Amino acid sequence: MLDNPLASSHASEAADDFAVRFALRHATLAPSSHNSQPWRFVLGKDSIMLCADRLRALPVVDPYDRELIISCGAALFNLRVALASLGIGYAITLFPSSVDPDVLAEIRLLRNHATGAELAALVGAIQERVTTRHAFSPEPVDAAIEQHLLEAGRAENVEMACVSAMARREAVADLVAEADRQQFADSRFRRELARWIHPRHTEDGMPAYAAGLGDLLDFAAPLVASAIRTFDLGGGVAATHRELAAGSPLLVCFATGVDNAPAWLATGQALERVLLTATLHGLCASYLNQPVEVEALRARVPALFGLPDTCIPQIVLRIGRGTPDAATPRRPVDEVVA
Ligand SMILES: Cc1cc2nc3c(=O)[nH]c(=O)nc-3n(C[C@H](O)[C@H](O)[C@H](O)COP(=O)(O)O)c2cc1C
Repeated sequence: MLDNPLASSHASEAADDFAVRFALRHATLAPSSHNSQPWRFVLGKDSIMLCADRLRALPVVDPYDRELIISCGAALFNLRVALASLGIGYAITLFPSSVDPDVLAEIRLLRNHATGAELAALVGAIQERVTTRHAFSPEPVDAAIEQHLLEAGRAENVEMACVSAMARREAVADLVAEADRQQFADSRFRRELARWIHPRHTEDGMPAYAAGLGDLLDFAAPLVASAIRTFDLGGGVAATHRELAAGSPLLVCFATGVDNAPAWLATGQALERVLLTATLHGLCASYLNQPVEVEALRARVPALFGLPDTCIPQIVLRIGRGTPDAATPRRPVDEVVA
C-alpha cells in the first residue's frame, strides 16, 4: 500500500502536493493496451487535467484510439478512487475543451466535500490488480460475486453481460481464435506488438511473458520480439487463447450504445471498477479483445453474450481464480505530468 500522505498531518500545502502525487501514482497503475500508458496530466491550482497522449497510440491494433481512450478511462477511475481514499471530493467535467479533443477530463478538487466510501474501499486493490494470462481454475465464480461485478460496471453507465455455460464459452473461444489468426497474419500487427515487448527493467511496454503467447515462446524478450515480428504464430496463439477462453469459468463483455470517445472513456472507468472489484474478491482477469479489435468480427460478439445487436462491444475479459502474474513497470509520475 502506498503511504497516505494525509494520514498523519493536516491538509497543508505540502500535504496537498503529496495528495496529488498519491492520486497520480495510483492513476498510472491503471491497465493500458500494450502497457502503452497513453496519458498525460496537467496540474492547475486545485485541478488535474487528464489528457490523451496520442504519441503513444497503437495505429494498427487500435486505429481510432478507442482502446487508448479506454485506458485513460481506467486511469481516471483510479484517480477518483485515490482521491476518495484521502477524503478529497472532486467534480469532473468530461471533454471540457471545445477545441482540444485530447483533453479528456478536468478533475476539480473539492477538499471540504465528503466522498463515497464505496470507491475508497477499492484503493488497496489498485496496486494488487495485474493482468494474469495463465489458465484459471475451472471453479465457477460465485453468483453473488458475478452480480457484484455486473453492478460495478453498470454503476459507470456501461452495459455488461457474463457467460459461464460451457457451450457459450466455446463459441466465444472459437471467435477469439479466428480473430487471433487474422491479426497474426498481418505483418503490421506483428511489428507493432513486437515493438512493445521489452526487457523487464524498462518503464513501459510488456515483458515477454505478457505478450499473450503463453508458453509458446519461452525465450528472452528480444528473441520473442524478433520471432513475433518475423513469423506468423497465429495458429499456435489461436489454439492457446482458445483453450484459455474456453477453460475460464466466466467471460465478460462490456458494451455501449454508441461508439465514440465519451463511450470509450466510460468503458475504461467501468473496466477498472470491475477489475478492482474482482481483485477484492480474490479473482484474476485477462483480456480476450481480439474479436472486438478485428472490425469484420466485432458485430458477432454481442449475440454470443446474449446482448442485442444494437450494443457495441468494447472489451471482453475472462475472469477466474489463479496465481496473479508479476506487476508490469510504469513510468514515474514526473514523466506523465506536463
Ligand atoms: C483497453 C485495453 C486493452 C487490452 N488488450 C489486451 C489484449 O488484447 N491482450 C492482452 O493480453 N492484454 C491486453 N490488455 C492488458 C495490458 O496489456 C496490460 O494492462 C498492460 O500490459 C499492463 O499490465 P497490468 O494490467 O498487469 O498492469 C489490455 C488493456 C487495456 C486497458
